[in-house]
This record gives sequence, C-alpha cells and structure tokens, in this order.
Amino acid sequence: MAEKAIAEFFDLSGKGVVVTGGAMGIGQGVAFRLAEAGAGLIIADIAVNEAKDTVKRIRSKGGKAKFVKADVGVVGSAEKAIQAAIDTYGSIDILVNAAGIFPAAKFMDSDEAFVEKMFNINFKGMIRFSQAAVREMIRAGHGGKIINVASIAGLVPARGQTMYSASKAAVVSLTKSMASELGTYGITVNALAPGGIMTPGTATISKGLVKALDMTMEDMLHMHMARVPLNRLGDPDDMGKVVLFLASGASDFMTGSIVRVDGGFLTT
Ligand SMILES: NC(=O)c1ccc[n+]([C@@H]2O[C@H](COP(=O)([O-])OP(=O)(O)OC[C@H]3O[C@@H](n4cnc5c(N)ncnc54)[C@H](O)[C@@H]3O)[C@@H](O)[C@H]2O)c1
Repeated sequence: MAEKAIAEFFDLSGKGVVVTGGAMGIGQGVAFRLAEAGAGLIIADIAVNEAKDTVKRIRSKGGKAKFVKADVGVVGSAEKAIQAAIDTYGSIDILVNAAGIFPAAKFMDSDEAFVEKMFNINFKGMIRFSQAAVREMIRAGHGGKIINVASIAGLVPARGQTMYSASKAAVVSLTKSMASELGTYGITVNALAPGGIMTPGTATISKGLVKALDMTMEDMLHMHMARVPLNRLGDPDDMGKVVLFLASGASDFMTGSIVRVDGGFLTT
C-alpha cells in the first residue's frame, strides 16, 4: 500500500507559485488549476488588465492570487516577482515559465532585432526567472519545481517560425541541463511541449503565419488537424492539468523530461 493518499500529492496548500505569462492563454489555464489545488499564485505579466481579471477570477473561487507587473524581457523583473511570492505566501516552491511570444517570419525575413526579441523573451526571460527562483529555493533548502513551457516547435522544425522554433529548442536544452545541475538541491525541472492550443496568442499569430507560409487560413488549419489524432486543438486547461501533475508530488521522480501535450501531433 502506498504511504501517501493521492489527494495529498495534489494538495498545493502552503506553496508559493510564480506563473509568468499567467494573465492569458496557457499561463492562465495553469494558474487556474494550481490555485484550485490550493497554491498561492503570483501572476507575473505585462498585460495589466488581463492579469487583474485573472486574479479576480481566482479569488472569486476562493483561491489565492496576486498580480506583479513583470516583463520577463527586462533584467531585474524576476527578483521582484519571486520576492513577492516569498513575502505573500512565505516561500517560492514552484515556478512556471509560460510567458512567450511566437511571431511568424521566414528565415530570411528575421532581422537582428526580431531574433534578439525572440530569444530575449522566450529564452533569456526563462533564465532570469529560473535563476531568481533557484537562488531562493537553494537558500531556503526545501527544493522546488520548475516547469518551462517549450513547444513541439522546439522538437521539430517549424516552417515560417524559424526563430521561434530555435528559441524553443533552446528551452528544451536549457531544461535538461538545468535538471542535471539542480537535482542535487531537490529541484526538478521539466518542460511542457504543447501542440496547437487555442489562446489569444494563437489567434493573432495565425494571421502572420498564413502570410509567411503563403497559404489560406483554412488550408493551414486543415494541414495541422490532419496530423492530430485526437482531432481537435488543445485548450489552456489541457495544459493546466498536465502542469498541475508536474507541479505536484505525483511527479517527484521526474526531472529533465519534455512532456509533449499535442493531441498526438508528433506521433504521425
Ligand atoms: N498557443 C499555442 O499553440 C502554443 C503552442 C506551443 C507552445 N506555446 C507556448 O506557450 C506559452 C504561452 O502561449 P499562449 O498561446 O498562451 O500565448 P498568449 O499570447 O495567449 O499568452 C501569453 C501570455 O504571456 C504574456 N507575455 C508576453 N510577453 C511577456 C513578457 N515579455 N513578460 C511577461 N509576460 C509576457 C502575455 O501578456 C500573455 O498573458 C508561450 O511560451 C508559447 O510559446 C503555445
């Protein structure tokens, strides 16, 4: 008989959590589930109104959440958000790096500024927040869990999104190396690799992508769906449920894993 009841693994009461990009989309879906599990949330985002609304929705269901305005692309913003978790909830136990951008551009249309912005937000932002969190987790000596939102585009090429794909491949590599170094401190580091998920960001990006691919929206959607055995796009809650598992005690022996949640896209 197992020592611990299942419900105990998923009870995150007393845990301090920072979710970057928690105001909308995947980050919001994650924030909702972690708050439901009892964790105290810091929503670290640049979208002020959406973040405040997310906090309101969590609190209206009895959850704990607070907004900290933080741009992952700016040095120093991570420390502020991590400190807010410690000040508000007593500790930083879980970090979910969900903030990201995914503008489309062909390889030859990706200029210096475009590449710099992509890597600054998607890759360096993750490093900034992870270092700030890990510093405190090591100091407190209680370990922790870090979940990086990568993408299937970090595992296979993404035509029309070359730099995005490269930034997410960097996230995949970062996740594995962080896991190998930080295990000794009881810190696990795993990545979520979503497939096509319906979010505010997807709605915007698909317009740029059809242009980069020189396709119609219908053809692009058809091409994508033909590769999804589960025959639907994902939603933020599909991600929230899996991140809940990765943030819970049920995944304690997992680190350095890249968890694909794509409706089966990469199996075909
Ligand atoms: N939607 C998909 O199909 C999909 C697939 C694979 C991976 N992803 C990844 O999931 C993550 C979330 O994507 P989404 O679809 O929810 O996007 P989204 O645009 O709907 O939401 C992104 C959130 O991140 C915030 N954000 C953006 N830049 C930020 C910054 N500099 N600092 C702080 N917050 C910032 C936004 O304000 C927003 O709240 C991204 O890393 C994305 O690459 C998305």
